[in-house]
Amino acid sequence: MTSPTASVAGPGDRAELVALRTRVFVHEQGVPPEIEQDALDETAVHAVSRDATGRVVATGRLLLREDGGPATIGRMATDAAARGGGHGAAVLAELHRQAALRGAGEVELHAQVSARGFYERAGYSTVGEEYEEAGIAHITMSRTL
Ligand SMILES: CC(C)(COP(=O)(O)OP(=O)(O)OC[C@H]1O[C@@H](n2cnc3c(N)ncnc32)[C@H](O)[C@@H]1OP(=O)(O)O)[C@@H](O)C(=O)NCCC(=O)NCCS
Repeated sequence: MTSPTASVAGPGDRAELVALRTRVFVHEQGVPPEIEQDALDETAVHAVSRDATGRVVATGRLLLREDGGPATIGRMATDAAARGGGHGAAVLAELHRQAALRGAGEVELHAQVSARGFYERAGYSTVGEEYEEAGIAHITMSRTL
């Protein structure tokens, strides 16, 4: 089987990626919907990975800072049935590529502690101590591009 590849989401992908995030963060993890979706979605670069049938099974978003500070990645989610198949890694790789294309040299994220190993495999290091966000233990991680 070939490894999944991800691409930048178009306007037509928005409803499907929002539905996926709702399944993962709101229904599975109990994050309030008003926190899960925010105004940053309008300016973010969104990436998606699809299964063999074309269904969106993983997504994530990239936020760029105008002051040249580190880009931020967030809302990384893979459909529960598609986890472990490389879709999350494909989305992350595409967001790294998009960040570098836009001149970012570093990327930072607030990782759920349970996903720390996923980000470590993608080259991230932990910065500082654990804290709570949306009722879930998080840690800041960063990597250069
Ligand atoms: C975290 C998440 C996005 C990973 O997506 P995925 O599609 O299952 O990840 P992949 O299959 O691309 O995994 C890539 C690598 O990371 C590893 N990995 C995946 N999830 C991991 C985890 N939670 N802990 C440690 N390693 C993990 C995989 O084994 C794989 O390793 P390999 O390269 O040695 O084969 C997914 O589990 C998810 O949506 N979780 C619920 C939401 C969440 O926690 N999001 C993160 C918010 S910070």
